[in-house]
Amino acid sequence: MSLIFPTLFLFSCSVSLVLSFSPTHTDLQNQCLDDQKSALLQLHRDLYYAPNFTFSSKVEFWDPNTDCCSLKGITCDAVGHVIELDLSYKNLSGSFHSIFNLHHLQRLNLAGNNFNTTLFQYEFDRFSNLTHLNLSNSCFLGQIPVGISYLTSLVNCNLSGHFPIEVFLLQIQSIDISENDNLEGQLPEFSLNNTLRVLKISFTNFSGKLPESIGNLKFLTTLDLHGCKFFGQIPSSIANLTNLVELGLSYNNFSGFIPAFHRSGVPNLAYLFLWSNHLSGSIHSSLFALPSLQALDLSENELFGEIDECLNASSSLIETLYLGYNSFSSIKLDMFSQIKNLRVLDLSNMSLSIESNITSLLFPN
Ligand SMILES: *[C@@H]1O[C@H](CO)[C@@H](O)[C@H](O)[C@H]1NC(C)=O
Ligand SMILES: *[C@@H]1O[C@H](CO)[C@@H](O)[C@H](O)[C@H]1NC(C)=O
Ligand SMILES: *[C@@H]1O[C@H](CO)[C@@H](O)[C@H](O)[C@H]1NC(C)=O
Ligand SMILES: *[C@@H]1O[C@H](CO)[C@@H](O)[C@H](O)[C@H]1NC(C)=O
Ligand SMILES: *[C@@H]1O[C@H](CO)[C@@H](O)[C@H](O)[C@H]1NC(C)=O
Ligand SMILES: *[C@@H]1O[C@H](CO)[C@@H](O)[C@H](O)[C@H]1NC(C)=O
Ligand SMILES: *[C@@H]1O[C@H](CO)[C@@H](O)[C@H](O)[C@H]1NC(C)=O
Ligand SMILES: *[C@@H]1O[C@H](CO)[C@@H](O)[C@H](O)[C@H]1NC(C)=O
Ligand SMILES: *[C@@H]1O[C@H](CO)[C@@H](O)[C@H](O)[C@H]1NC(C)=O
Ligand SMILES: *[C@@H]1O[C@H](CO)[C@@H](O)[C@H](O)[C@H]1NC(C)=O
Ligand SMILES: *[C@@H]1O[C@H](CO)[C@@H](O)[C@H](O)[C@H]1NC(C)=O
Ligand SMILES: *[C@@H]1O[C@H](CO)[C@@H](O)[C@H](O)[C@H]1NC(C)=O
Repeated sequence: MSLIFPTLFLFSCSVSLVLSFSPTHTDLQNQCLDDQKSALLQLHRDLYYAPNFTFSSKVEFWDPNTDCCSLKGITCDAVGHVIELDLSYKNLSGSFHSIFNLHHLQRLNLAGNNFNTTLFQYEFDRFSNLTHLNLSNSCFLGQIPVGISYLTSLVNCNLSGHFPIEVFLLQIQSIDISENDNLEGQLPEFSLNNTLRVLKISFTNFSGKLPESIGNLKFLTTLDLHGCKFFGQIPSSIANLTNLVELGLSYNNFSGFIPAFHRSGVPNLAYLFLWSNHLSGSIHSSLFALPSLQALDLSENELFGEIDECLNASSSLIETLYLGYNSFSSIKLDMFSQIKNLRVLDLSNMSLSIESNITSLLFPN
């Protein structure tokens, strides 16, 4: 089980400088509206061709006499709004501010260019209907690759900078900016209309608290914040994310109690990783009884109390259970025999009293 799926894309650029046109047609139903046309004209003026990060020439992809909806890389809706713009792998540099006047955009691909700028200055929240945003391998400082299914993080450029918080507020379903360890950022307050399903920012320099409003992400299935610099309490609202399957908060600086996860709140939670934080308190009795829980890792925290029959494990499906490096006072080992699928039980490095009627026991310490 890995929560991290890094994917690398290589440059694979075509040599053409001029974007090719599909045959011109006069389908009035599909004609570019004036405001869309002027935004594209402005974009054309602002971009330049920079194959080696140095100015080479102006780009030449726009013929003002052509219906812009018929340009290659541009798709319009029936009314004439640009809904898709693909400028990938063109060695473009310069400003793309005017793209943000194309409010109806649903898909934007700027991958594989030489933008030597941060994304901080751009107003992504102006796209209310954007579903696909591909910025991979575009040499943004603080590479921000975001997309609907999964995203990529790339080297060539040094990954650093501040992640624009607005991106989290888009109507986007998946954000994966994992493994950009110089990338800084914070999480925003999430509103109830947020459609995020997958949020992976593991091994970045993200910091701050996890907002209580994380509980508004009702579609969230995967939250992976592993290996960042988050601190403070884990908000209790997280225990009400009914679609949540994977929750990885390990290797941060979270403190306080583990929220009271229970079967009605997180019926689908299968992987819960909270290891290496500063969590304290005892384990809530409903935790082992979560109906979908397969893997639980609470090791390297400051948990205390007893592990005994109070923990309702009779219906547990847990297969791997890591509890080591904590401060539990006693553990009734027979309790684990109730968990019928249990394959791995790690109780390393705990000084505690163990009660069991098992006479021969191999026990890691
Ligand atoms: C982009 O620049 C690279 C490196 O100079 C070059 O290999 C590639 O052919 C260029 N691609 C385009 C579309 O100009
Ligand atoms: C880009 O750099 C490569 C290798 O350094 C060189 O061969 C090529 O001519 C350069 N292209 C431009 C347009 O300067
Ligand atoms: C990138 O931009 C910075 C300033 O923003 C500039 O100093 C640097 O020379 C640029 N790098 C390239 C390769 O153009
Ligand atoms: C966004 O999508 C909705 C529903 O399809 C549509 O009614 C609305 O006009 C769209 N907004 C923009 C700015 O395209
Ligand atoms: C981003 O766009 C590039 C170029 O079109 C493509 O190769 C890549 O697969 C896209 N990435 C995602 C995550 O869709
Ligand atoms: C990238 O970062 C490394 C280490 O921080 C630095 O040594 C190197 O000069 C940087 N490269 C560029 C092109 O900025
Ligand atoms: C991470 O962010 C902190 C500030 O929050 C900064 O001091 C530190 O230099 C950053 N580390 C890296 C590797 O960028
Ligand atoms: C989502 O809700 C926030 C705050 O309630 C609001 O500002 C924003 O416009 C809404 N976004 C959409 C796409 O409806
Ligand atoms: C969780 O949801 C239940 C029922 O919808 C609600 O009563 C409870 O207050 C919620 N808890 C949190 C911490 O949001
Ligand atoms: C982690 O939190 C503890 C208090 O819970 C604090 O003493 C420590 O400085 C924090 N460490 C980091 C790296 O923020
Ligand atoms: C233990 O959990 C099962 C279902 O998972 C439930 O039926 C039973 O009432 C629970 N027992 C206690 C003591 O909470
Ligand atoms: C072990 O102890 C439990 C109660 O703690 C008891 O239910 C069980 O029958 C015992 N098993 C054996 C083999 O004695």
